Amino acid sequence: MNQEDLFKNVISHAKEYGFVFPSSEIYDGLSAVYDYGQLGAELKNNIKAYWWKSMVQMHENIVGIDSAIFMHPTTWKASGHVDAFNDPLIDNKDSKKRYRADVLIEDHITKIEAKIDKEIKKAEKRFGDSFDADMYKETNPRVKGYIDKISSIEKRMKRCLDEGDLEDLKQLILDEEIADPIGGSRNWTDVRQFNLMFSTEMGSVAEGSNKIYLRPETAQGIFVNYLNVQKTGRMKIPFGIAQIGKAFRNEIVARQFIFRMREFEQMEMQFFVKPGTEMEWYAYWKEERMKWHRSLGISEDSYRFHDHIKLAHYANAAADIEFKFPFGFKELEGIHSRTDFDLKQHEEHSGKKLQYFDPEENKNYVPYVVETSIGLDRMFLAMLSYAYTEEQLEDGSERTVLKLPAKLAPYKVAILPLLKKDGLPEKAREIMAQLQEDYMCQYDEKDAIGRRYRRQDAIGTPFAVTVDHQTLEDQTVTIRERDSMQQERVSIDQLDGIIRAKLKS
Ligand code: GAP
Repeated sequence: MNQEDLFKNVISHAKEYGFVFPSSEIYDGLSAVYDYGQLGAELKNNIKAYWWKSMVQMHENIVGIDSAIFMHPTTWKASGHVDAFNDPLIDNKDSKKRYRADVLIEDHITKIEAKIDKEIKKAEKRFGDSFDADMYKETNPRVKGYIDKISSIEKRMKRCLDEGDLEDLKQLILDEEIADPIGGSRNWTDVRQFNLMFSTEMGSVAEGSNKIYLRPETAQGIFVNYLNVQKTGRMKIPFGIAQIGKAFRNEIVARQFIFRMREFEQMEMQFFVKPGTEMEWYAYWKEERMKWHRSLGISEDSYRFHDHIKLAHYANAAADIEFKFPFGFKELEGIHSRTDFDLKQHEEHSGKKLQYFDPEENKNYVPYVVETSIGLDRMFLAMLSYAYTEEQLEDGSERTVLKLPAKLAPYKVAILPLLKKDGLPEKAREIMAQLQEDYMCQYDEKDAIGRRYRRQDAIGTPFAVTVDHQTLEDQTVTIRERDSMQQERVSIDQLDGIIRAKLKS
């Protein structure tokens, strides 16, 4: 199955089983806004809990907060979002489709990269074991040409974006003969800047009303509270403040399901450090965050780093952790060295000192900040698309299984009485009552056992416990593992240990 079909299947699976629904679907939905259903809410909560545990519970020097979505409007002036949180947009005059100019160029670069990969694969086949890919890249004229081309496009794009040279950005699109990915036309409008913040009014009377924004990132709620937390929590630098919450962006190109939404959730952590040590911490958090992703047991080649060419207005270094989505490698998480930009800006706009007194150095300073920022919905999509598997079984039948990491699976155990009689449902309910305190369990007695297994496979339940007549005699059940489909007869007392071990692994 090609990746496009796979992605379509993931989307319809998400809807069919109650993971994700289009928002207000009875009114034909709202573009780039989605609701999470009964299983989606569980998966999302589990991702949040896993992140919170590793960032807050496992770090003595990181604490969590929950700040409001609405903030004083000056916050966004200070942070630079009012003036600089723009995307360069361009319209195609024929298809009437709107694009981000930088995304069109980046997609064009991805196509050139694919050509390099193709050349390398061909050469690898030709030269066999003695093939040295790095040497080939340096010496093969065609590959070198592609690499030079990418570098010159990237440099030109960076200059245009840094200097706001929208005319040359359009010229770059024309020079590279970039066509509308849908319509194929090269009939482009000029490039314009578009601010991504949503605004509304606070107060009901227009006269006294104030324009306020729906926060486009959770980070500013951390910055404005940093001294409150530092003082009340007696935090010593280096320390972190974490937060999970909604963010809103009026995205120009909102596509690819929940990858780019207008209302989404972020899991962010700001790490406050001594000025001059930020690059060390930046490197540290890059590695730590990659380790977190890998700890979920997802294949290593699903992730890669991408260092930014275009730095956000607040950063002096930035990298993405990219994930191999069905539509290619795309940003999942950002790690940014934000310098003292935000705190200094808030000092200036609020007139309040935001300095930290360092008892070791015996002096005051504004800390530097290293940020880790991951989109919860993107993490959800990464897990769902990675886990979604259509399998051909030995007996010729097929199954769809979500091979979710057990920690993240909505339900951990399904409790299935073999028959709906002879006291089996009662015994099954008794077992369920024991496990329910610690694990999300689902009871199911409808249909043949094979169909019930398939239903649990499709929602990613790692274990199915079947209660049969032997259970009534010797207090044993069969436990079936989702991925291997292996079944084992164990005593009821062993269930807790088996499930616990799996969730720890
Ligand atoms: N505080 C820094 C910040 O907001 P960002 O790179 O703009 O940085 C961080 O966003 C993460 O938030 C991204 O890596 C992505 O996972 C997620 N994200 C950003 N925009 C999103 C959108 N429109 N829909 C879903 N997730 C989004």
